[in-house]
Amino acid sequence: KNRTFTMLKPDAVENGNIGAILELINTSGFRIVAMKLTQMSRKDAETFYAVHNERPFFGELVEYMTRGPIVAAVLEKDNAVEDFRTLIGATNPAEAAEGTIRKKYAASIGENAVHGSDSDENAAIEAAFHFAGRELF
Ligand code: GTP
Ligand code: MG
Repeated sequence: KNRTFTMLKPDAVENGNIGAILELINTSGFRIVAMKLTQMSRKDAETFYAVHNERPFFGELVEYMTRGPIVAAVLEKDNAVEDFRTLIGATNPAEAAEGTIRKKYAASIGENAVHGSDSDENAAIEAAFHFAGRELF
């Protein structure tokens, strides 16, 4: 088994979708290894999304990700990173497959409800960004 990192983004929390999204995560075979409600500072978001800092949407992305609380979590499953990316669907919900979290709960490419790590290496970096060792079970 391996691990991935996820955030239920501020829009998902604002819209009351924490429970429904966690239900999909559980029924899709992921075990919750760590989880908390937290809010990213501007500096946190700029660091977390540093790979995008030259992109035209970077300012909007930082505003969005810092505007309210998120649910941060670490999930475990065989093939966790790839299977979770499949469960969440395409970045743009208009292109997301039927049944995916973004198809069901995301409004737009800019407000897309959920994050999923894109590699095992980034999953480990992102989990360590949000959680101390004693918070992982
Ligand atoms: P994450 O799981 O959040 O990393 O999404 P992703 O891997 O599907 O997409 P990517 O890493 O390319 O982009 C990171 C985030 O930036 C997206 O999830 C969106 O929230 C935001 N983003 C990406 N493209 C756009 C865009 O064209 N406009 C805006 N406003 N935001 C974007
Ligand atoms: Mg990404």
